[in-house]
Amino acid sequence: MPALAHSVENVPHSRIRELAEVAMSMDGVLRLYFGESNLPTPDYIKQAATKALADGFTFYTENAGLPSLRRAVASHYQKFHGVKLDPESEIVITASGVQALNVSLRCMLDPGDEALVLTPAWPNGSSIIAMANAVARQIPHPLRGDRYRVDFDALEAAANSRTRLLLYTSPSNPLGWVATEEEQQRLLDFCRARGLWLLADEVYDRLYYSGARLGEPVPSILRKATRDDAVAVVHSLSKSYCMTGWRVGWLIARRDLGLKATQLNEFIISHAPTFAQKAGETALECGEAELSRMLVRLKANRDLCLAALRQMPGVTVPEPDGAFYLFPKIDGLTDSFEFCRRLLMETKVGLAPGVAFGTGGEGSVRICYAADRSILEPAMDRLTKFLRAG
Ligand SMILES: Cc1ncc(COP(=O)(O)O)c(C=O)c1O
Repeated sequence: MPALAHSVENVPHSRIRELAEVAMSMDGVLRLYFGESNLPTPDYIKQAATKALADGFTFYTENAGLPSLRRAVASHYQKFHGVKLDPESEIVITASGVQALNVSLRCMLDPGDEALVLTPAWPNGSSIIAMANAVARQIPHPLRGDRYRVDFDALEAAANSRTRLLLYTSPSNPLGWVATEEEQQRLLDFCRARGLWLLADEVYDRLYYSGARLGEPVPSILRKATRDDAVAVVHSLSKSYCMTGWRVGWLIARRDLGLKATQLNEFIISHAPTFAQKAGETALECGEAELSRMLVRLKANRDLCLAALRQMPGVTVPEPDGAFYLFPKIDGLTDSFEFCRRLLMETKVGLAPGVAFGTGGEGSVRICYAADRSILEPAMDRLTKFLRAG
């Protein structure tokens, strides 16, 4: 009997999923383990999809995605970041952020190569690296004072002749950390000096609470990079437009990588669903008012949960600047999966275990605060009681 390929056997299971699967078999769970809002996709986007279907957007598109959506993405970067992109070669529409990560990593890594990954991080990056027969070297963000930092000394120490890239996520899932401009510059300089790709996951860039005004995105790394830099950015419509189930995202990359990713798309998924791309165009063009309302709600949710967590015994939690997660550290916690399992069974609160997010994640739990207040309030109450009971 042939066995499964060794490389796929080595890809770890998602421990978020593992816990979620237990939770999904139960009724009445307060579900804060996945990274999505409980708000449905806004009506104007659903209507755009219906119209797209009626208008005949039911056929194959280009591998790089509909030219009109690529132009909408280009205008988005021009408007929000003052960055001019070529929709023909530097923008690839993908069937989600995860697919953008997948195809870009595939274009950067050969078997046996190594990738530096800033963690704790959404596990998919490291798992996709493993799927490419490469090795993820996880470099944890140290918490200094009330802020997570980038450990440049650890990055220097971990880089070697097999290292091909550095992957970071800002705003971070699960930390909510946002790279400062100085950190961005140093990451870019580090990669330039060592001849590495810099892959930035910016899927949460619009969910930012520390800008001059709510709605201002986190400055993209693209503002600092030149078009000849080995830089790529992963993005998605999932988070900012409540479109997790639609599977539309994009990759911005240096021209050679953009063109190669376009070609490879053919063999992976060919392209994102046509009518969903069309609806995505509407989201980008008309989404600001709805996004502003969502940001007000998310910031209030963040503050509600932060205030509650700061009253809980043995909990340390820095104020996150972006995304929609809190990642409290719990004194003495050494098995976050077991903690989350017990919390789920005993209180029906579903959180994601910190161990799922790689090096530096154990000892914490992730709370997604994009849910409704009516879910967050009882969840915080039950977590307080659970921690008090020891
Ligand atoms: C950091 C990060 N990147 C990418 C994604 C992918 O999002 P999607 O595949 O829904 O576009 C997620 C989703 O949770 C994420 O947290």
